[in-house]
Amino acid sequence: MSSAKFYVTTPIYYVNDKPHIGHAYTTIVADILARYHRSLGDMTFFLTGTDEHGQKVQKAAEAHGITPQQQCDDTVVRFQELWRELEISNDKFIRTTDPAHKKVVQEIMQDLYDRDLIYKDEYKGFYCVPCERFFTNKDLDEKQCCPECGRETQEIIESNYFFRMSRYQDWLIEYIKSHPGFIQPDFRANETLGFLKKPLGDLCVSRPKSRLSWGIELPFDKDYVCYVWFDALINYISAAGYRRNDEMFKKWWPASCHLIGKDILTTHTVYWPTMLKAIGIEPPESILAHGWWLVGRSKMSKSVGNVVNPMDMVQKYGLDAFRYFLMAEMTMGQDASFTEEAFVTRYNSDLANDLGNLASRVIKITLRYGRGVIPAPGEFTEPENELNAAIENAITEMEKALKTMRINQGLEQIMNAVRAGNRYMEQTAPWNLAKEGKTARLNTVLYCAAEALRKISVLLHPVMPNKMTCLREALGIKNASEGHLDSLKKKANILSGLQMHDLDALFLRIKPEETEVKEQAPEKAKAEPPAEGLITIDEFFKTSLKTATVLAAEKIEGADKLLKLQIKVGSEKRQLVAGVAQFYTPEEIVGKNIVIVANLQPAKIRGIESQGMLLAAKDGKNLKLVTVDGDIPSGSSVG
Ligand code: MSP
Repeated sequence: MSSAKFYVTTPIYYVNDKPHIGHAYTTIVADILARYHRSLGDMTFFLTGTDEHGQKVQKAAEAHGITPQQQCDDTVVRFQELWRELEISNDKFIRTTDPAHKKVVQEIMQDLYDRDLIYKDEYKGFYCVPCERFFTNKDLDEKQCCPECGRETQEIIESNYFFRMSRYQDWLIEYIKSHPGFIQPDFRANETLGFLKKPLGDLCVSRPKSRLSWGIELPFDKDYVCYVWFDALINYISAAGYRRNDEMFKKWWPASCHLIGKDILTTHTVYWPTMLKAIGIEPPESILAHGWWLVGRSKMSKSVGNVVNPMDMVQKYGLDAFRYFLMAEMTMGQDASFTEEAFVTRYNSDLANDLGNLASRVIKITLRYGRGVIPAPGEFTEPENELNAAIENAITEMEKALKTMRINQGLEQIMNAVRAGNRYMEQTAPWNLAKEGKTARLNTVLYCAAEALRKISVLLHPVMPNKMTCLREALGIKNASEGHLDSLKKKANILSGLQMHDLDALFLRIKPEETEVKEQAPEKAKAEPPAEGLITIDEFFKTSLKTATVLAAEKIEGADKLLKLQIKVGSEKRQLVAGVAQFYTPEEIVGKNIVIVANLQPAKIRGIESQGMLLAAKDGKNLKLVTVDGDIPSGSSVG
């Protein structure tokens, strides 16, 4: 990594309710990125915290019959405790009720007001309480529901203060276009640019105290408080020393990455950059929007009663496995489905079978045939070269994944290296080498297997710090808890001569009866392997096929076979690159209800991200899209 500084943030969480796996996910992503960067020796600052003002918190306090401050103080502890349990390594925890933060918000407001970038006006609007957002008539449908969450809005006429956001519209469009990677994934940048096609209004940044008193008082009008989003976004700079500690601020700003969920894209990619422009500060280097965790196929919701409490999973299956699952299961940018069944399946295959098995084999065999001392290797042959290539590939891919913040992609390659490790053991069969007295060869195999395990443990350390420390301890490594990534680049042999210790199973296999859910007949699938060329029903169901509607299509310059499509899959928007340009014009394909492979790893085709693949039938000269017979909403599953 070239960058010597890494400043990562999570959204600051509302204190109207307790945390769930959605909150845990973002915070664990930030934690893992921060741990990787620290391990590379980069100066790292990881910020998280709570968003404590606004109507949501005031309403929650009213419902509980306590003061808003009490509501904040009671709930903030739940977040802080959860982060401790999840071993989150944040450097700072900001609360927007901190006096230091409030003062910075007031100074910024005063400065913008003095420069006429904030002005007073009468305003008619529609307010959505859950989203804390104002909308004008043109944003709403005929039922006047919130365009973000679909709930009813309240009509409000009042005098308020406005930030001259509209002034920065052209600048922002230009900035986004000229800074690829500023908003990630690319399709979210397109979404923001789409939003900016409509004229950008000024932003209402105050609330009269008569309606909402729980907020930061405006320094130039004591009858008003600051709009919660204006206050909240400023946390990213107030926590980094803005206006208080120039040296600190210079060190950390611009932030390397704001991690956010897809629902808070506009506030972060429109409000925030324009606010910073007006204040006179550079935008953050990147804003990365992830998808949502669904429970099965449904949205998590208190009223449905399907909210997943992260601690339930941690208590049942252990912290490291939970952190691993969240990272491996969600493709950055897209929604993911959480089920205990999916958890158990991934746990058993990646952790118990692949990684746990490799660790236990290498350690047990070395204890048995080498008295536990890691030997010095002899000459490397083809199997060693293959194993090393898989490990080197995992290192390179993890480095890339860090730069692009796609942890799941790095993990896939690490798991490929783990599987290469298991193949290596089978191929070289050290137990036979021992029987046949081929000691020199046995030594090479034991060393290479241990070295592969060490490198894998270092690569996985930020994701599973406890288990990987145990693993390195078992290899006999001193300071096992450190696991520095830069040790991967060193060629020196640091293992030979170390004394291994036995290790209890790193990840015990979970039996289906230990979960509330049934695993899908794994024993049967094992007992009766399918005939050659056939797949099992389980294998088929690994492919998620969904219906989707094509919203927009365009040709790709220099690629006469490809079309770039914007599609809708349920509430989600995605981008596909499809090889259909010789059979469909962009005009013909728009509006079609197609079928896509929805869980395909995103790929870049001609430098353009493609999130899935459409299905089509082809016979040499003809190509016809696969569609469904009749009306069914986009996002429906096919199979
Ligand atoms: N307070 C604002 C953020 C201000 S940042 C300056 C806020 N808070 S929140 O508590 O409602 O949401 C925090 C984050 O949780 C958002 O990024 C949101 O996307 C994320 N999630 C809420 N539910 C989620 C899932 N089901 N899955 C994944 N993340 C989701 O918005």
